[in-house]
Amino acid sequence: MKIDLVTIFPQLFLPHLETGMWAIAQKKGIVQFGIYDLRNYTENQHRTVDDYPFGGGPGMIMKPGPIFRAIEALTANSPQPPPLTILLSPQGEKLNQELVKELSELPWLILLCGRYRGVDQRVREKLVQREISIGDYVLTGGELPAMVLIDAVIRLLPGVLGDLDSAKEDSFYEGLLDCPHYTRPQNFRGLKVPPVLLSGNHQEIRRWRRRKALELTLEKRPDLLPQANLSKEDLDYLAQIGYHQQPGGERWI
Ligand SMILES: C[S@@+](CC[C@H](N)C(=O)[O-])C[C@H]1O[C@@H](n2cnc3c(N)ncnc32)[C@H](O)[C@@H]1O
Repeated sequence: MKIDLVTIFPQLFLPHLETGMWAIAQKKGIVQFGIYDLRNYTENQHRTVDDYPFGGGPGMIMKPGPIFRAIEALTANSPQPPPLTILLSPQGEKLNQELVKELSELPWLILLCGRYRGVDQRVREKLVQREISIGDYVLTGGELPAMVLIDAVIRLLPGVLGDLDSAKEDSFYEGLLDCPHYTRPQNFRGLKVPPVLLSGNHQEIRRWRRRKALELTLEKRPDLLPQANLSKEDLDYLAQIGYHQQPGGERWI
């Protein structure tokens, strides 16, 4: 997968590129990162990327010219299929694990990081195919949201994590929260590991984990349950602990 970043702060990405899974993914050739400094696509000696808003008002707007030139340069002679150009934006669709999975299947992403009061509207209309938000709050720039998106996407690429199955058991992957986990020691200050996890009975362990995931989801994020992939056994267990399915297929608590 190719991930190109368009930003006025390329240096923010450098520590990540040299650390942990990002570095491993690059070394293994699973991800190729390109970092493009928007100021290299300006046409004035001050390398200005922003200007005053037409109509007045506070704040500065990112000029369309440098952004158009950067993305046109990146995509010139682009191989098929073309990239998906994403603007990180608080106005975009909210990033969730389903969207992360979808993005992880694409060959090439261009991530455009806004700053100031955002980008000129013509960038949205003509260059960007998707706007993605990391939540209903406003940050100073799109670099942290881009890092969040990249981190979530690349850990799903085969070969990045030692064990991709562990990502598949994480919260949200199958629509439920993850179950509780324990490691050594078995007894930590009198707090003991649930005996089933020490039993060696893999079927019982699987069942215990599934039930805990159902309990935790019901307790912390019941809104996830109607969309989760649930078996008859799951629904029977949920009914025992107070969650019921409506006759029409919809469920309620
Ligand atoms: C200060 S924000 C601009 C906010 C814009 N005026 C608005 O209210 O929609 C500057 C840049 O930060 C990024 N940004 C801020 N919050 C974000 C969020 N929640 N998700 C994704 N990107 C965000 C975007 O790239 C945005 O262009």
